[in-house]
Amino acid sequence: MRSSCVLLTALVALAAYYVYIPLPGSVSDPWKLMLLDATFRGAQQVSNLIHYLGLSHHLLALNFIIVSFGKKSAWSSAQVKVTDTDFDGVEVRVFEGPPKPEEPLKRSVVYIHGGGWALASAKIRYYDELCTAMAEELNAVIVSIEYRLVPKVYFPEQIHDVVRATKYFLKPEVLQKYMVDPGRICISGDSAGGNLAAALGQQAMIVNNHTSLDVEEAAAVRARLNWTSLLPASFTKNYKPVVQTTGNARIVQELPQLLDARSAPLIADQAVLQLLPKTYILTCEHDVLRDDGIMYAKRLESAGVEVTLDHFEDGFHGCMIFTSWPTNFSVGIRTRNSYIKWLDQNL
Ligand SMILES: *[C@@H]1O[C@H](CO)[C@@H](O)[C@H](O)[C@H]1NC(C)=O
Ligand SMILES: *[C@@H]1O[C@H](CO)[C@@H](O)[C@H](O)[C@H]1NC(C)=O
Ligand SMILES: *[C@@H]1O[C@H](CO)[C@@H](O)[C@H](O)[C@H]1NC(C)=O
Repeated sequence: MRSSCVLLTALVALAAYYVYIPLPGSVSDPWKLMLLDATFRGAQQVSNLIHYLGLSHHLLALNFIIVSFGKKSAWSSAQVKVTDTDFDGVEVRVFEGPPKPEEPLKRSVVYIHGGGWALASAKIRYYDELCTAMAEELNAVIVSIEYRLVPKVYFPEQIHDVVRATKYFLKPEVLQKYMVDPGRICISGDSAGGNLAAALGQQAMIVNNHTSLDVEEAAAVRARLNWTSLLPASFTKNYKPVVQTTGNARIVQELPQLLDARSAPLIADQAVLQLLPKTYILTCEHDVLRDDGIMYAKRLESAGVEVTLDHFEDGFHGCMIFTSWPTNFSVGIRTRNSYIKWLDQNL
């Protein structure tokens, strides 16, 4: 009896040690976030073990776990018709919202899911639910792209997939088939999908007309990433920018992708940015990508683009997809509502 008590106490302490991470007081639903983080960390560690044992690549294992827990088949409701199909060889899940009697042609969003170019799927319930809600609330057609991921393919294949699927969708006969208004189409995504959406938006304007910059020109790119001038004081607070003062020029020669605007849309030329349409950018205070989003908004604004920067003080990376139980966060629901509201008013 006594030893089982000791064992139980030790197990509880161990579990608490594993789950607990110190979080800023301002983050939404901190305990739930710790549990979510611990679950993800656990899945990562299992995947690393599988990789170590030589059974599979750790990203394939991790994505297998993510997708098998959350996969949802294409299920149509009375309101939203959901179909899995392919656009020019790229898998897509299409959500067709209910028609509005007064508008025969629908609005449309091309949606690109997040996951660091390596994880998640248009078919997991988080993205399925988000796109279903968008289709229903906006009476719109949502095309969620199932682009190929690392390690199956590497940059720039992901961008090629989203470009190919989008180009196909934009063909007049395809738009007509889905009853989409060609003048009311938006390109959108979260996390890595936001990166791809920005790159896709820029690509649509410049049609692959640029090449990687060489090392000397990298210095010129710095000015486009100026943390001090692009971030308002309300965001810089007392933080110090993380800027590498010394570097190795070889890395840019070995990985020219680093200075390719398709992998880092933030470094695009002003001339490219000024061609972009009205833009909505959602940022979260507790997110490593916070500054990139804000700086991109500032650069677009300086280029004369109409930008809405929607910042959530209690938000964390990826929170917009966490809206339903047990991973329902108050900030998840608020960010999603705010995003859909902007689309409703602007698309
Ligand atoms: C691409 O660049 C070429 C050469 O500068 C130019 O003639 C062409 O118009 C450009 N195309 C687009 C779509 O910008
Ligand atoms: C960034 O902007 C600040 C303020 O405008 C300026 O003092 C600084 O020299 C800039 N840094 C770079 C690397 O351009
Ligand atoms: C999450 O959902 C549960 C069950 O519907 C509800 O009781 C709880 O208040 C929700 N939490 C948040 C933060 O929305």
